[in-house]
Amino acid sequence: MTVVASFCMSLDGFVARPDDSVGPLFDWYQGGDVEVPMIGYPIDFHVSPASASYLRDFLESMRGSAFVCGRRVFDYTHGWGGNPPGAGRAFVVTHRPPPSDWSSANLAPFTFVSDVAGAVSQARSAGDGTVGVSGPSIAQQCLRLGLLDEVRIDLVPVFLGEGVRYFAGLDSGLGSLDLVEVVAGDGVTHLRYRVG
Ligand SMILES: NC(=O)c1ccc[n+]([C@@H]2O[C@H](COP(=O)([O-])OP(=O)(O)OC[C@H]3O[C@@H](n4cnc5c(N)ncnc54)[C@H](OP(=O)(O)O)[C@@H]3O)[C@@H](O)[C@H]2O)c1
Repeated sequence: MTVVASFCMSLDGFVARPDDSVGPLFDWYQGGDVEVPMIGYPIDFHVSPASASYLRDFLESMRGSAFVCGRRVFDYTHGWGGNPPGAGRAFVVTHRPPPSDWSSANLAPFTFVSDVAGAVSQARSAGDGTVGVSGPSIAQQCLRLGLLDEVRIDLVPVFLGEGVRYFAGLDSGLGSLDLVEVVAGDGVTHLRYRVG
């Protein structure tokens, strides 16, 4: 069981603009000729051969396993229309109840949890494979709590200048990470680090 945070990040460390849009950070998902279907959510990516191999392996590792996300990502994506990435269960970290217009059919894969450690623990118990973590604030808290096994960065060679940071408010006490994989795609470099 591996708990992994994975984000597309600009060279200056941002995963979104101040208005939460991702701008050019997701361009590489449609910048190539090789089709890679997302698992769970109905979208196809078209990427370079190198990115396709990297992406397929990662998505397959998440097939049917659980997913942890923050409430802002859940709200921003409208709960992926009821189809969380990976097609398994999703644990939403929040202080609030589910949206009032969220139907019970859509609610089925989602559990709303009021703390990060509890969400990760429930996700670990809910399946095998890779537990994905989404929402930079949740990823940061997981790092501080020692709950992340792996950090993935899809590094996009642009500067956003301002916005939402992947890593904010972390300190040097976390130590260094071990680089385990580098894949050069077109318009993106995939970096995979093991958390010590
Ligand atoms: N570039 C990429 O690959 C990528 C991927 C995904 C998302 N993003 C970007 O990431 C941004 C959203 O991430 P974010 O970090 O701002 O938000 P987030 O992690 O999705 O959600 C933060 C919210 O989760 C709840 N929460 C967080 N910690 C909690 C705790 N310990 N206990 C209970 N509830 C807690 C709070 O919501 P409540 O108090 O309101 O319940 C908090 O406001 C967006 O801009 C999105 O575009 C980028």
